[in-house]
Amino acid sequence: MYMMKGKAEVIVGMQWGDEGKGRVADAITPKSDVIVRYQGGANSGHTVIVEGKKYIFHILPSGMLYSGKTCVVGNGVALDPDRLFEELDELSSQGMDRARLIVSGSAHVVMPYHKILDQFEESKGLKRRQGTTEQGIGPCYVDKFGRTGIRVCDLMHPEMLRDKLDYILGLKNQIITRIYDEKPISFDALYDKAMAWKERLSLYVGDCSKVVAQALNEGKSILFEGAQGTMLDIDHGTYPYVTSSNPTCGGVCTGTGVGPKNIDRIIGVAKAYCTRVGEGPLPTEDLGEKGQYLREKGREYCAVTGRPRRCGWLDLVALKYAIRINGTTHLAITKLDVLSGLEEIKVCVAYDCEEKRSEEYPVDTHILSAAKPVYKTFKGFSQDMSEVETIEDLPQVVRDYVKFIEDQTGVPVVILGVGPDRKETIYRETQ
Ligand code: IMP
Repeated sequence: MYMMKGKAEVIVGMQWGDEGKGRVADAITPKSDVIVRYQGGANSGHTVIVEGKKYIFHILPSGMLYSGKTCVVGNGVALDPDRLFEELDELSSQGMDRARLIVSGSAHVVMPYHKILDQFEESKGLKRRQGTTEQGIGPCYVDKFGRTGIRVCDLMHPEMLRDKLDYILGLKNQIITRIYDEKPISFDALYDKAMAWKERLSLYVGDCSKVVAQALNEGKSILFEGAQGTMLDIDHGTYPYVTSSNPTCGGVCTGTGVGPKNIDRIIGVAKAYCTRVGEGPLPTEDLGEKGQYLREKGREYCAVTGRPRRCGWLDLVALKYAIRINGTTHLAITKLDVLSGLEEIKVCVAYDCEEKRSEEYPVDTHILSAAKPVYKTFKGFSQDMSEVETIEDLPQVVRDYVKFIEDQTGVPVVILGVGPDRKETIYRETQ
């Protein structure tokens, strides 16, 4: 079998996004040569603090902060060029745009009409509200699958683009004016914008799959970074309350052009509890003071929209499902410190669904919505863990909690987040 020489790791969210993937990526990036974003767009965001300075990443991998690395925006990404340039400009104003950047020519472009339509769909009451981030993600992927999308490579061919845009904008303007009763988008303004994007993107455009294959053949390490999480996956999440891409591991193959056999480690990231933004089921949601406690202590507010996140207990039924879907080989459990100060900590081990108790996650969202969680309860703890360096120094109840997760899932927990700072991370080596 044809296998490449390098090593490839994936970081994938095990819950409803916001698991702290950025933090885990930040920990793994220094030993990776190439960092590739494989799906999603500016609907996600993570913050990295370096030497007291805060950097917020929506599209670019945080590997941009390191010289000698290559960062790739994969073909699976819904690329908003304005947001990309904003991020690049912010980094370059600090002298921190240090890595080589490649943007896949096959990535689909989030056009202004995608954002407008996302906003209208959410606000005009003609469609069921999803609670999207209104970044144009859904409409962009709709066009990708409807084969009416504009790709980065299309921007490089002005005359062909003119024809294509003329016909697509005609269709979009029909929707904007006739269905939403709003003003049409001007073709000239849109075309000029696309030409300005072309100028700048042409510096970065490349072939993601080729870059990855070359790096693997040279024995380099690749890190594939996803956005959102398994339960927001268009195929495996709580449909229709999902994002429009595949944050799950399969999205790495389609979103970058790497073969599945070339992936070595799949690191699933889960918070020590659960959060979700937007509509849709969250079986362990706590609408009372415990949920409020988790929200305030964990600063659970959306990085893109500022919306408060819904909070609840760790859901092992959903976590085991996410592990199955992704073939997760290792787990990272983040924000364990947020559980400190609670009298008791609950973890969901089964659902009562349709008068039956089951440890199986029901893929039917209608059934899931009515699922009642069955909990195992752990005693609370109050110790501060910020100085803890090894798992042995953690409060016994936290060790028991982590051990319980490992026993239930059969997957080793190799990274533990015990505080917001980069150094408040415990690593455990496994074979
Ligand atoms: P969209 O991705 O903006 O279309 O939003 C679809 C759903 O995914 C909404 O419920 C959003 O709140 C959720 N979502 C999208 N991106 C993120 C993220 O990065 N973290 C958490 N939820 C997200």
